[in-house]
Amino acid sequence: MKIAIMGAMPEEVAPILEKLQDYKTTQYANNKYYEATYKGVELVIAYSKIGKVFSTLTATTMIQHFGCDKLLFSGVAGAISPTLKVGDLIIATKLSQHDLDITAFGHPFGYVPEGAVFIESDKDLIALGKEVASEMGKTVQEGIIATGDQFVANEERKNWIGDTFKADALEMEGASVAVVCDALDVPFFILRAISDAADMDASFSFDEFLETSAVESAEFVMKMVDRIVE
Ligand code: ADE
Repeated sequence: MKIAIMGAMPEEVAPILEKLQDYKTTQYANNKYYEATYKGVELVIAYSKIGKVFSTLTATTMIQHFGCDKLLFSGVAGAISPTLKVGDLIIATKLSQHDLDITAFGHPFGYVPEGAVFIESDKDLIALGKEVASEMGKTVQEGIIATGDQFVANEERKNWIGDTFKADALEMEGASVAVVCDALDVPFFILRAISDAADMDASFSFDEFLETSAVESAEFVMKMVDRIVE
């Protein structure tokens, strides 16, 4: 077994690397990949850089080049659902690309021919996530995550994404990672901690809470790894 642990930004993987301490760094395709053995299992850790293209490249590299057979994503998100507050965790049940638009040809938002509006996360990993949450005494919500190449700091756009995709949170990498994992038949789990409410204060909230929310998410993902390897 080889587990990929991925984030988008340095702050999202730093807490994981801190926990491992001893790892090998490999430069590949303009990015750094950190390989470690943890409790007898091989891990590959990387942050992709922000957005769908970089996250697609990193997820593909972790699977095709490094041979990972499970992928866990840890990071932060903007809340759409009013029940999600800064620091809260959300597990993606399914993900969609909110900025994918060929509606001019009569297709729904998020759809292109031979694709799907939603990609579902691995059910066993979601079930494990729920077990980990109860062991940790944490409330973790499950919900739909919408992904796009936009930092959303606008109530109108956020509400549109919420209404169109029934999405509970939004970010910039999850759905592209989901597309890669689905195509390559690799079980995946996307966890996000809320850093902001995707409204006019989002950039300030993001700057303030990125690190603490990223730690929340990373700690949870490492508990998932503990359960997977035991
Ligand atoms: N990640 C965290 N907050 C976000 C936001 N408001 N928009 C897009 N991605 C995010």
